[in-house]
Amino acid sequence: MPTMNTSMQGKICLVTGATSGIGKATALGLAQMGATVVMVGRDREKGEAVQREIKTKSGNEAVDLLLADLSSQESIRQLAEDFLQRYTKLHVLINNAGLISLRRRETVDGLEVTFAVNLLAPFLLTNLLLDVIKASAPSRIINVSSASHEAGYINMDDLQLERHYRYLRAYGQSKLALVLFTYELVRRLQGTGVTANCLHPGFVASNFGQNGTGPISRAVVNLIFSSFGISPEEGAKTSIFLATSPEVEGVTGKYFVKSIPKRSAPITYDETLQGKLWEESARLVKLPMKV
Ligand SMILES: NC(=O)c1ccc[n+]([C@@H]2O[C@H](COP(=O)([O-])OP(=O)(O)OC[C@H]3O[C@@H](n4cnc5c(N)ncnc54)[C@H](OP(=O)(O)O)[C@@H]3O)[C@@H](O)[C@H]2O)c1
Repeated sequence: MPTMNTSMQGKICLVTGATSGIGKATALGLAQMGATVVMVGRDREKGEAVQREIKTKSGNEAVDLLLADLSSQESIRQLAEDFLQRYTKLHVLINNAGLISLRRRETVDGLEVTFAVNLLAPFLLTNLLLDVIKASAPSRIINVSSASHEAGYINMDDLQLERHYRYLRAYGQSKLALVLFTYELVRRLQGTGVTANCLHPGFVASNFGQNGTGPISRAVVNLIFSSFGISPEEGAKTSIFLATSPEVEGVTGKYFVKSIPKRSAPITYDETLQGKLWEESARLVKLPMKV
């Protein structure tokens, strides 16, 4: 019989990509600490199966599931509406869902999918939920980036990588953009009691890199990740630490690796680039320029 610790009782936490890997382990960890966990998944059957598993393993019935395809802006807007219909508080938002795509693919909104899911989805979802997050302060926003951001490069004239698509380049750019977004967000949140941090979870043996690939690539990726990767539970530790630890109460605008703040790539501290990327992201998701 699982025994729940209650240190997060009364806290509402939303985790995207909660149906697999790091996000699933994060949702379970938060449920085990007594939080109300709102999982976001894109597939009902898979989502309900993971929801049942988390309830059973944690002994916590307060595990909810909302469905959204984070590559679609309409679906993200619907997700925010669905959340706001059910909840009046949001203490922790974890933008965890992410992908890498071997080929250049476009979303229903006509955007390159890696950029759309890894940057624009967190950008839009966070902005749509910002009022309720502020009303729940002290509250925390956590963006799951990657050490790959260090190899990333942002070309504001070709963010959609229409000219030279390479999957590692697309992934590195999206994760670099997520760090830049986090730091700009922090400036805009000053004085609100809301913190925002980002992190690298480690090299984790999850389903990462296996969506939308052929059987051979999948087998290779699987072999590499299972040989060298840490477990999803280990990979979720930094997200859970940032979501729950009193040690990081009030800590904001940092990049964490293994629950320790580290310098992110020098370019991430470029405030002009942060601002430009924010404005372009707002334009691409059709958000008013107010926040
Ligand atoms: N694994 C690593 O070594 C590593 C290293 C650095 C950073 N990261 C980052 O860690 C995060 C979690 O990755 P992971 O390793 O746990 O990979 P994973 O097992 O593939 O999990 C990714 C999650 O994102 C969800 N997702 C992907 N596209 C989506 C979409 N269009 N709409 C809704 N949900 C979507 C997936 O949903 P489904 O369950 O439906 O597929 C899944 O739940 C990602 O942001 C990744 O970039 C991972």
